Amino acid sequence: MSATAPQQLLDDAALTETALTEIFDGLAKTAAPKLVEAMRYAAMAGGKRMRAGLVLGAARLASGQENPQGAVQVAASFECLHAYSLIHDDLPAMDDAETRRGKPSCHIAFDEATAVLAGDALQTLAFELLADPDIHPDGGIRSGLVYDLATASGVTGMAGGQMLDLEAETRRFDLDETRIMQGMKTGALIKASAVAGGRIGGADDKLLAGLAQYAEHLGLAFQIADDILDRQSDAAAMGKPTGRDETAGKASFVDVMGIDAATNEAHQLVENANKILAESVENSTVWLDYMTKISSFSIGRSH
Ligand code: IPE
Ligand code: IPE
Ligand code: MG
Ligand code: MG
Ligand code: MG
Repeated sequence: MSATAPQQLLDDAALTETALTEIFDGLAKTAAPKLVEAMRYAAMAGGKRMRAGLVLGAARLASGQENPQGAVQVAASFECLHAYSLIHDDLPAMDDAETRRGKPSCHIAFDEATAVLAGDALQTLAFELLADPDIHPDGGIRSGLVYDLATASGVTGMAGGQMLDLEAETRRFDLDETRIMQGMKTGALIKASAVAGGRIGGADDKLLAGLAQYAEHLGLAFQIADDILDRQSDAAAMGKPTGRDETAGKASFVDVMGIDAATNEAHQLVENANKILAESVENSTVWLDYMTKISSFSIGRSH
């Protein structure tokens, strides 16, 4: 578990962060600068930007263009939604984690009330960015993006999965329940990232279905890696507390499968993800290669 991030992912992280900086600079002129500061604090400075990379990679794969219109804004939207989920995940009422991305968590750097509001505002900002008429001239594409993000992050997706994650602290989940919970809390947003990239890049139905299946496998593999890292890595490397899943009694893949089986499963999932995506495109391109590198990185990462 020590692969470095693909260079293209680092470049895409920089692109996305430039867009986010512009967005927060614009918002800083509003009447609640402290809220914008907390949003910026949580959304910037760190993060692997995997969801952004998936958006941009899928958009390029679909369009064949290096800079498809609107794709960077979609990437920024998904990173805002993700940053919101992390702020709330770290709150004392949830995982009670004092660090995130190597810095004090948002509620420590600011205060709990500000952190709750920063999460709320990042969530609605994510939808604002997708509904923005400048992102794409076709209202059908924009509403598809909004619909997908809503279902991925709401009760059938991330928020519902987070509820199950808390429930798992009080009773033991079996493997199937763990899979469902992880698929909702983490997998849904990862899947929506790839699909959104496909949508903004003009993917046909076959490619959209391929992207969805690719990212479903990848999302599960990604959370397996997160669970393994929670057990095996340390807070300095991760930039967030480790070892907490076991003490909190969380349902984790490591807990229900053991490290070896979980590692094998993650590799199998990534292999399948790459195979499915390759089968859904006509030709192998540099962007297919990028998507393959992202999925390998999702389980080979060191943090
Ligand atoms: C952490 O996500 C939360 C989970 C869904 C497991 P990431 O590992 O993608 O966090 P950052 O964005 O790189 O900090
Ligand atoms: C959180 O899962 C997933 C979210 C929806 C934020 P974890 O609680 O395992 O994420 P980390 O380990 O704190 O990043
Ligand atoms: Mg959690
Ligand atoms: Mg957590
Ligand atoms: Mg975790």
